[in-house]
Amino acid sequence: MFVDMHHHLIHGVDDGPRNFEDTQRMLKYASEQGVRHIVATSHATPGQEAFDAEKYLSHLDMAQKWSDEQGLNLAIHSGCEVLYTDAAPRLLSEGYLPTLAQTWITLVEFFPLDPFERICQAARLLGNEGFTVVMAHVERYKALQSMRNVEILRDEYGVKMQMNCNTVISKKGFLQDRWTKKMIESGCIDYVASDAHNTSSRPCSMQKCYEVLWEKFGEETANALCCKNQLDLLQL
Ligand SMILES: [Fe+2]
Repeated sequence: MFVDMHHHLIHGVDDGPRNFEDTQRMLKYASEQGVRHIVATSHATPGQEAFDAEKYLSHLDMAQKWSDEQGLNLAIHSGCEVLYTDAAPRLLSEGYLPTLAQTWITLVEFFPLDPFERICQAARLLGNEGFTVVMAHVERYKALQSMRNVEILRDEYGVKMQMNCNTVISKKGFLQDRWTKKMIESGCIDYVASDAHNTSSRPCSMQKCYEVLWEKFGEETANALCCKNQLDLLQL
């Protein structure tokens, strides 16, 4: 069974599914892959656009009810993917944004070219408010192509690293693939997640990712990155 901690399944709130039928397709798809826990991480852009928590929670409720009726065996948890802005620490600490499965853990993304100092500052400020940061799709940031920088974030700020399934599955070029391999082998990646937005161009590919991880890095790593580490982190 898999835990997908980064998944845009809630309809009508971000660039994920447009309607509830699309959400239903995504839920069915995830369940067929063996996913048993999903954190519904819709985009939030603090200080730029208000997060419609009421709509988000009512659509999450609809998704959970439909999933139960269909016997999909899925637990859908609340959360969001926070784009780091200067307003993010305050809005998170004041409770305007859902954290991952109602913990003190938050999934945070940055702009790809944000400097390393800004990422460290974000981890520090969020840490001061009591939050642990999970870095969304760590492969996306220029500053984190340096393994040393990744280690600093992990060791000094306690940041956890999430990689997208697609990065594990698809070839991205020699240098990028070498970086991915090094990151996984050295234990710098804590979780993989689908970052699914639909069932076509950006589907939930946890099953395929698990198979590739098993083949390249062994069963223990595959289990840790697809399930065990998430269960430990979120206490599911
Ligand atoms: Fe995302």
